[in-house]
Amino acid sequence: MDGKTVYSAIQPSGNLTIGNYVGSIRNWLGMQEEYDCFFAMADMHAITVRQEPAELRRRTLELAALYIACGIDPEKCTLYVQSHVPQHAELMWVLNTIAYVGEMERMTQFKDKSQKHADNINMGLMDYPVLMAADILLYQADLVPVGQDQTQHVEITRDLAVRFNNRFGETFTVPKALVLKQGAKIASLQDPAKKMSKSDENPNASVYLTDDRDTILRKFKRAVTDSESEIRFAPQEKPGVSNLLTIYASFTGKNTEEAEKEFAWKGYGEFKLAVGEAVADKLAPVQAEQARLLKEKAYLGGVLAAGAERAYKTARKTLSKVYRKVGFYQGE
Ligand code: TYM
Repeated sequence: MDGKTVYSAIQPSGNLTIGNYVGSIRNWLGMQEEYDCFFAMADMHAITVRQEPAELRRRTLELAALYIACGIDPEKCTLYVQSHVPQHAELMWVLNTIAYVGEMERMTQFKDKSQKHADNINMGLMDYPVLMAADILLYQADLVPVGQDQTQHVEITRDLAVRFNNRFGETFTVPKALVLKQGAKIASLQDPAKKMSKSDENPNASVYLTDDRDTILRKFKRAVTDSESEIRFAPQEKPGVSNLLTIYASFTGKNTEEAEKEFAWKGYGEFKLAVGEAVADKLAPVQAEQARLLKEKAYLGGVLAAGAERAYKTARKTLSKVYRKVGFYQGE
């Protein structure tokens, strides 16, 4: 270990897609061997849009089981539920006082979500990046592995860390986003200009990590490509085909050049089938392991309790430093 700390999280706010897997979880796997890793289920972020409470509870546990089923080892990393560690909300409050309304209003995700949930533009939705900054800064993280869509939030986290350090003295590590060259933005299968998203209304646009083999093959068969027949990696000219090549490469541990060579003389039909099969083959054992773990409620409960306790120890240290720096009376 070279002493670096890694922090990342996923919201238990919907059915996870292969975009979440490729852009984040897959990326975390190698890190747990090298770094001190914290991986959370961001349930506090999830409630910034309306959630059905029973479903949120169920999804949180499913996400924990998924992390482990994908190969995240709870012995090596700290796996925990965000709301189990009260310091997230507490640090967020302090950071709120150095975050400006204007900069939060300019966040792309806030603008998108405000449009999508026009009847529920709540304070939490706007404060979402500040909570994310609190997550990351509490653990003094150096690296934050995320997909493309979250990089703006890591940037604002850096700004807040620097601003706090300048005003109150060195307190926070200034983190860096770690974005993969390949797979940082998996696109929708129905509209390659859009990212694949948990909340897409068209179920054919996203492949969910819970989809069975037939569903996966069908979705890839229907994936939008173009009217040519050439299989080549050219994200600008051929976004649909390039997205499929990226997915294939990510699920087989290859790069897109190798993938392109493999399919150079093949037709779209055969290509789409091969992509679907690669995804289905990889997901089948993960799904089986997740289902097995979900029956082991006591084990999962134990993992989350131990994770929360470990997270709490680090979080408490950072928060008490912050409280001292801002001048909260903590006894003589
Ligand atoms: P969330 O739950 O929307 O997504 C989880 C992770 O998946 C990545 N991702 C994608 N990557 C590639 N292609 C896609 N189509 C795709 N869709 C999603 C996201 O970039 C993310 O890395 N705010 C965060 C959760 C969070 C967090 C944090 C992350 C809360 N606190 C602290 C890092 C550090 C979110 O909503 O991710």
